[in-house]
Amino acid sequence: MPANYFGGPVAERYDESHASMFDPTVVDPAVDFLAALAGNGAALELGIGTGRIALPLARRGIHVHGIELSEAMIQQLRSKPGGEDIDVTIGDFSTAIVDQVFSLAYLVFNTINNLTSQDAQVACFENVARHLHPGGRFVIEVGIPSLRRLPYGERFRASEVTDEYLGVDEFDVARQRLVSHHFNAVDGRFEKHSIPFRYVWPSELDLMARLARMTFRERWSNWQREPFTSESTKHISVWEVPS
Ligand SMILES: C[S@@+](CC[C@H](N)C(=O)[O-])C[C@H]1O[C@@H](n2cnc3c(N)ncnc32)[C@H](O)[C@@H]1O
Repeated sequence: MPANYFGGPVAERYDESHASMFDPTVVDPAVDFLAALAGNGAALELGIGTGRIALPLARRGIHVHGIELSEAMIQQLRSKPGGEDIDVTIGDFSTAIVDQVFSLAYLVFNTINNLTSQDAQVACFENVARHLHPGGRFVIEVGIPSLRRLPYGERFRASEVTDEYLGVDEFDVARQRLVSHHFNAVDGRFEKHSIPFRYVWPSELDLMARLARMTFRERWSNWQREPFTSESTKHISVWEVPS
């Protein structure tokens, strides 16, 4: 089982420390996009977390099943209205089996990068393919690796600096990995929490989809379907299991 970086204290602070991601202007377009693809079918969220997307999607009448590594994140989900009604499988979303097939699977908020090897990311696509109906879609939301902002010879890049929070990304370009270091001010001192990631390019994700016998459908720069360009900082991509 992969390491769990979303245990007790992180889970308890998750919604507060990602407050901007819970804003309706961020959540609603994602839920609109996903609800349209789910249609009358059920949806599988990989890394469901505290239900930021799953709960509003379920409120649209869509049956959502989540896979999640962190029991503490699920405890937070369960404490919210409607949270007890979401089915959850505790496990690693690159290997966990749910005894159901879905019309939609989705993996948002950069969570593909939590799988820190290429093998695990490929296994994730293969696992999704086995959980989708023919014609079922797989949606990923993930940032474009920000290597254009990393000067040659440098390893560290500050992502945010405030009085309460300091974020530093540490790149290992040869291994296509990065570690995000988070320093949060708690009782007058900074507490450090570091999470490893494997960043991944859109073209590499397309190849992973092909390995899992899925076909590319669409790619956008945001949930509002604005065009994906050289300046896009993230993408929403959709692949399909052939009918
Ligand atoms: C950035 S959070 C996103 C949570 C939620 N999807 C959202 O959009 O707010 C990533 C979540 O994925 C979970 N996660 C990371 N790697 C996982 C894995 N291999 N299997 C299952 N869950 C995983 C973490 O525990 C965490 O809850």
